[in-house]
Amino acid sequence: DLPGHFDRPVHIAVIGGTGLGKIDGYTPVAAINPETPWGLPSSPIQILEHNGVPIAFLARHGLHHQFAPHEVPARANIAALRHIGVRTIIAFSAVGSLQEEIKPQDFVVPDQVIDRTKGVRPFTFFEGGVVGHVGFADPFDGGLADIVRSCASHMDGEGVVLHPKGTIICMEGPQFSTRAESNMYRSWGGSVINMSVLPEAKLAREAEIAYQMICMSTDYDCWHSSEDVDVAMVIRNMEANGRNAKRLVGAVLDQLSKQEHSNLVLAKHWEGASSGAVKFM
Ligand code: ADE
Repeated sequence: DLPGHFDRPVHIAVIGGTGLGKIDGYTPVAAINPETPWGLPSSPIQILEHNGVPIAFLARHGLHHQFAPHEVPARANIAALRHIGVRTIIAFSAVGSLQEEIKPQDFVVPDQVIDRTKGVRPFTFFEGGVVGHVGFADPFDGGLADIVRSCASHMDGEGVVLHPKGTIICMEGPQFSTRAESNMYRSWGGSVINMSVLPEAKLAREAEIAYQMICMSTDYDCWHSSEDVDVAMVIRNMEANGRNAKRLVGAVLDQLSKQEHSNLVLAKHWEGASSGAVKFM
């Protein structure tokens, strides 16, 4: 029964993944469900207010976790956020670990991505006569990454272990990797693996939205033992560390909402066509 509209621009958004279905400590003030040219977002966008600053929250897999990673309407999600004014996204995701030192329940702030999706997900706004190419050499926003690292360092000793860099492999799924693939990703220098960072990060770049993912390790991928990845274990670790996930996201939001938004690094790697070419609504 929240209002379905909000009449001020919302600059900051959180995309919650598995295990971060909502964020606490903020006052919900609206729930909006904009229909974009790419359809409806995964869930209505919740607008939360914190110290007078509005923050958007979107559940990537839907309110009932009904979208598998390859079914997430990523273009509608990014277009809807952009439409309400979002210029900064903190995205959250459960990941498998490809490195011994990244233990289950550790956090990782990745700085690189390797695309192992299969081209079956719609992955661009630039098509159908709208031609554009964006730089993606550094897929995440360095300024946002620094904010996350600094927030986590203040939570040191409170059970928050954060790895400040890493390469995330984004696989198609929904099946987990074979052991040969898992070992190949390790040989490529992969740190963690998920099914969700793409095309989300690419679309955010096209929409000129600064984007950083925070990963929480929920399992060692299958390279680590003779066992399969166990979904029950993924969920157990997610729940066991959910409180820290919420605290970390909360600390980052506190910091972001304190800053004058224009000071953030806004799509600094932007090159080529302006997203002015794409009408987001
Ligand atoms: N998400 C969580 N754990 C994962 C894994 N091992 N592989 C791919 N995506 C994951």
